[in-house]
Formats: sequence, C-alpha cells, structure tokens
Amino acid sequence: MDKLQPLLQVLADGEFHSGEALGAILGVSRTAVWKQLKKLQQFGLSAESVKGKGYRLPGGLNLLDERLIKEQLDPVVVRQLSSLIISQVIDSTNTQSMARIRQGLARCGDVLVSEQQTAGRGRRGRQWQSPYAANLYFSLVWEFAGGVAALEGLSLTVGVAVAEALASLGAQEIQLKWPNDVLCNGRKLAGVLLEMSGEADGPCSVVIGIGLNVKMRAEMAAAIDQPWTDLATIMTGAPERNRVLAALLNALIPHLQQFQEKGFAATRQRWQALDAFYQREVTVSQGDKLVLGKAAGVDESGAILIETGLGLQAFNGGEISLRLANVTGS
Ligand code: BTN
Repeated sequence: MDKLQPLLQVLADGEFHSGEALGAILGVSRTAVWKQLKKLQQFGLSAESVKGKGYRLPGGLNLLDERLIKEQLDPVVVRQLSSLIISQVIDSTNTQSMARIRQGLARCGDVLVSEQQTAGRGRRGRQWQSPYAANLYFSLVWEFAGGVAALEGLSLTVGVAVAEALASLGAQEIQLKWPNDVLCNGRKLAGVLLEMSGEADGPCSVVIGIGLNVKMRAEMAAAIDQPWTDLATIMTGAPERNRVLAALLNALIPHLQQFQEKGFAATRQRWQALDAFYQREVTVSQGDKLVLGKAAGVDESGAILIETGLGLQAFNGGEISLRLANVTGS
C-alpha cells in the first residue's frame, strides 16, 4: 500500500497524469510507476493509458477522507466518537471490530470504515459485496449497560437511523423490511449486521455494521443474490461518500443514545411508518416452520406481528426470514 495510496489519491481526480509526473509524485522511476499501476487491479481498478497524455482512472474515485468526514459531523456526535479509522482493505469491519472487543482494545464510539472488504458479511451467512471506493462499509462499537435482553429492538432502531440519514440527504421512497433491511422501491439499498459480545444481564458491547450501496460497480451486479439498488440510481448522481458517512453517524449516534434511555418504544412509530410490508400478505419462515399472514407492524420488543388464521402472532430472532407472499428473492 506504500506507493499505491498516494497513486490512488492522485488518480482520484479522473484526469490524465503523465508517467513522468506520477513518478515525480511517488519518488520512483517510470517503470516503477507502471508496476504500481498494474497493482491497481487488486482493487478491481484499471488505469486507462493514452499515448502522449498519460494515465487516468475513468470516472475518478471518491475516496474516504477523515478530515471531510469529521468536518461534517455534528458537535454532539464528535464528542461521542472515540476513534475514526479508515482502512483501505480489510476482511470485514465487523470481524475486526469484534476482534478488538475480544482483545480488550475497543471503546464505545470506535468507528472502523474500509474502502474495500474482502470478506464482507451479511445477515444469515450471506456475503456482502464490497468493492473498493464504491459504497460504504463501516462498523461502530457501542456499549450498553443493561445486558443482551435490553437490546431488543436495537437492530430496528439502527434501520430507522439509516433511513432517516438517507432522507436527510434527499433520498426518497426509503422503506424498511423487517428487521432492518433498507429498501428503495423494493430493492435493497443498505443492510445492517449487529454482533454482540458480553453478559446476558451485565455490560455488553455491540458492533453495528452497516453496508450502504452508494455507487455499486456494474461488474459486481451478478454476484448479488437479491434485488438491489444504490444511491447513484435513486438520486441524481451519487452523493459524496464522506458526506453520506457523516450523515449516517449524525443520525445513528443520537438514536443509540435515545435507545439507551428509552429502548425501542421511542422509535417504534417511526419504524412502522417506514414499514415496506405493512398490511401486505407475507410468509414468515423460521427453520421448518412457515406461516402465511398479513404483516401488522412490530411490537415494543421489535418482534414482527403477523395476522394469521390463528390470530395475531409475534416473531422475533435472527433466523427468521420474511418474504412477500408469492414473490421470490425478496
Ligand atoms: C445484511 O445482510 O443486510 C447485512 C449487511 C451488513 C454489511 C456490513 S458492511 C460493514 C459491516 N462489515 C461486514 O462484514 N458486514 C457489515
């Protein structure tokens, strides 16, 4: 990464740079520049080369920048952040944040964001496609005093925070699919993966992992196993990624503080107003069990409520999958 990072910074503008100029910036020969340019392939990037003009990355790159992110954070949020680490390539920001918790190195308010994940993880064992500098992939560590039981509804609260952040950026038609998939026009825009470590009734740390499609690389599309979209598609052009990350943290941290005081009850109405499946025929599957009914919102613990032939039933837990009846792939 030694020379690659400065090379990426220069090429991020999408303009042509001569081999000579790049060599001067990196302090290497033109041959060494060419070798570095070849290495961009590891990020799925390839520089265009035009005789007499030099090299460029068509379309440029919108790279993460600590200063730009911090400048756009609300002061109250800055006070709650313990660290903001920007990684270039990582297996998974959640995996590494959980490792830091186990090693006793994590603090409440640590944010780890990466330009790329090589083993990004989704819910229920899915992969999360995480190409370089395309979308946002980050994890926030937060500590709660009341034990795992007090965290009921937290994952739904995070979904509401993401939806509100996107609305604050001008995105429209944002909805939630229980528990916290963020959708636009029925297509997945963002996902949340919560992982916990700690006592059943004592202090515990939560890693809140968020993946948001900002401008997905077209070549990744085939690898995504569900209908998806990105901000570049639903807005007029992709918003600046540092601004989007700041908006997400500006929404998320106040929500977490409110959740600590009041639990999910304070956010339940807002979740229901964003519910993509409200009053629609759905199937709920939990292991071998399959239930058909009409989605009827969520209860105060964040469980999904379904009107069934046997009356109103509540379902909760990570292994539940909810689909629109007669629709596959949702
Ligand atoms: C989902 O399946 O909807 C959850 C997706 C969560 C993806 C994010 S990207 C940042 C963090 N690191 C991971 O490995 N996963 C989460």
